[in-house]
Amino acid sequence: MAKRAPIEVFGEWAESGRDEGMASGHQSSVNQMLQLALPTDRSFRFLDAGCGNGWVVRKVSSNPLCTKAAGVDGSRQMIEKARAIDPQGAYIQDNLLVWTPDQPFDVVHSMEVFYYLEKPQDLLKHISASWLNKGGVLVVGVDFYAENQSSHNWPEKTQISPMTLLSINEWVSCFVDAGFQNVQWTQIDAKGDWAGTLCVMGKL
Ligand SMILES: C[S@@+](CC[C@H](N)C(=O)[O-])C[C@H]1O[C@@H](n2cnc3c(N)ncnc32)[C@H](O)[C@@H]1O
Repeated sequence: MAKRAPIEVFGEWAESGRDEGMASGHQSSVNQMLQLALPTDRSFRFLDAGCGNGWVVRKVSSNPLCTKAAGVDGSRQMIEKARAIDPQGAYIQDNLLVWTPDQPFDVVHSMEVFYYLEKPQDLLKHISASWLNKGGVLVVGVDFYAENQSSHNWPEKTQISPMTLLSINEWVSCFVDAGFQNVQWTQIDAKGDWAGTLCVMGKL
């Protein structure tokens, strides 16, 4: 059977309601990533890259320091769902590799999206060049990575392609090559065989 593109598969997840289970599964990691990335002493503009049904956009928009929260996702069904839940929200359907904002953001967040690209470094360079303000922060969470052995069978299990397996050092190098500074990483909620969500964060 031919493997399928991530946007097509996750569109079906939105139709069948699997997006909701995915959101609750990601919640603990995302809470910790936001704690690391969101400013607490100044206002900020926030973007979620690969926002799914928009749950992180709605969560961050309730932060009193957030002046704008928006989400971009390639799946029509995910974006339709986000707009149905929150008609006033800013949800954009587009390919992350081509979309550019009218005004840059202070924080770009992304959970479980970047390894669905053949070359995640292309998106890192695109974000660094045209999505973030000077001093802006990018925080990326991935569960599929070389040190998380228990994720290695996911391409077979899900039949999704591409799924790009990088090591922690390779993720850090991609951030540095894209122009990010103070690049830091941590593994969130590691337990037993599960190496945790790899969270990589860098500043422009
Ligand atoms: C695993 S889901 C995660 C969704 C959301 N971040 C969450 O935590 O609930 C991955 C999402 O990335 C989107 N996606 C994957 N590749 C994309 C691309 N090239 N452009 C836009 N969206 C993409 C998919 O449509 C899907 O909604």
